[in-house]
Amino acid sequence: RVLRIGLIPGDGIGREVIPAGRRLLEALPSSLGIKFEFTDLKAGFETFKETGVALPARTVDVLKNECDGALFGAVSSPTKAVDGYSSPIVALRKKLDLYANVRPVKSVASAARPIDLVIVRENTEDLYVKWEKTLDDPEIGVYAEAIKRISVRASMRIGEMAGIIAQRRQKLRESGVPSIHNSACVTVTHKSNVLSQTDGLFLESVRESLSRARYIHDKVALKDQIVDSMAYKLFREPEQYDVIVAPNLYGDILSDAAAALVGSLGLVPSANVGDQFTIGEPCHGSAPDIAGQGIANPIATLRSAALMLEFMNEGEAAAKIHAAVDANLVEAKLMTPDLGGQATTEEVLNDILKRL
Ligand code: NAI
Ligand code: MG
Repeated sequence: RVLRIGLIPGDGIGREVIPAGRRLLEALPSSLGIKFEFTDLKAGFETFKETGVALPARTVDVLKNECDGALFGAVSSPTKAVDGYSSPIVALRKKLDLYANVRPVKSVASAARPIDLVIVRENTEDLYVKWEKTLDDPEIGVYAEAIKRISVRASMRIGEMAGIIAQRRQKLRESGVPSIHNSACVTVTHKSNVLSQTDGLFLESVRESLSRARYIHDKVALKDQIVDSMAYKLFREPEQYDVIVAPNLYGDILSDAAAALVGSLGLVPSANVGDQFTIGEPCHGSAPDIAGQGIANPIATLRSAALMLEFMNEGEAAAKIHAAVDANLVEAKLMTPDLGGQATTEEVLNDILKRL
């Protein structure tokens, strides 16, 4: 099978970690029967400064017509609003209909407090439809409003995605892959006690989608939890969670916060997933403070490459990558400075390739 992968390094350390991702994919054993073809694509603030656009039309065209998946590094955002600049990854999620943002947060096997959860965030609506306006009223003065949109369709499909992920994790467990959870559980996050219509609809729709799909998810339990108590419990007892599904805003906040549970942003991967396409993307940004020094942790990107492969139905290849990365982390000898080590990006990558 030939997989055509678009590579979008972006800015800063994106340009250091995405080449590491490419080398990892190239190093996968040929016995897996996968070949890769790579295309380098531009996006980001540097691209904007060169060409006047942050996301060139060619990048979108090539991804849509000539790629099966992609890896995205990180992009810098200007600190002040710059005319004509908007985030390329946000635009890509829209243009490719990548409606789910999937973020696994997993501790090393040897961790005192094991964590193995995945946050599935709805990626297309909620307050992020950005329907905002500023008004002036003779009585209250200047005020601003934003619209929160929750649809049955978007909520059902994110529920379905959470169910598929929970079931996939359950299958891995049943096949003997060690896990801290005995069984699969999806927790729906919401605030329907206050926002009974919008969040109420989200909760109801996710429940409905999971119960409709019950015949394939018969081993997946379903719970729900109010977002504030969720934040509390996520920090007190993170080991309790398996799959968390959330509307856009809560999912954004919870997923960044959950990344703090495992020590470094440089470890946490994500995937932007649609029915036709997946973009793997490390959770971190362009890290201007360390860019150009060759010390960025490549692991978030390597895990993002594995996650991309999972959604391309190449679970075996993904499992090999996860095992090689975990072995590096358990041994804890070759680590980049964010984990307290002194190794370079190159040295960590080579160690993982050797294990692969
Ligand atoms: P950041 O994630 O770039 O960096 C935060 C801290 O974590 C820094 O100290 C950095 O050195 C460290 N760090 C991040 N990734 C690392 C890695 N792989 N290895 C070792 N250390 C790592 O977030 P920050 O500083 O808030 O933002 C920098 C730029 O990145 C901004 O322009 C921001 O807009 C952009 N950004 C882009 C994102 C994206 O493309 N999805 C996400 C977050 C921020
Ligand atoms: Mg965020």
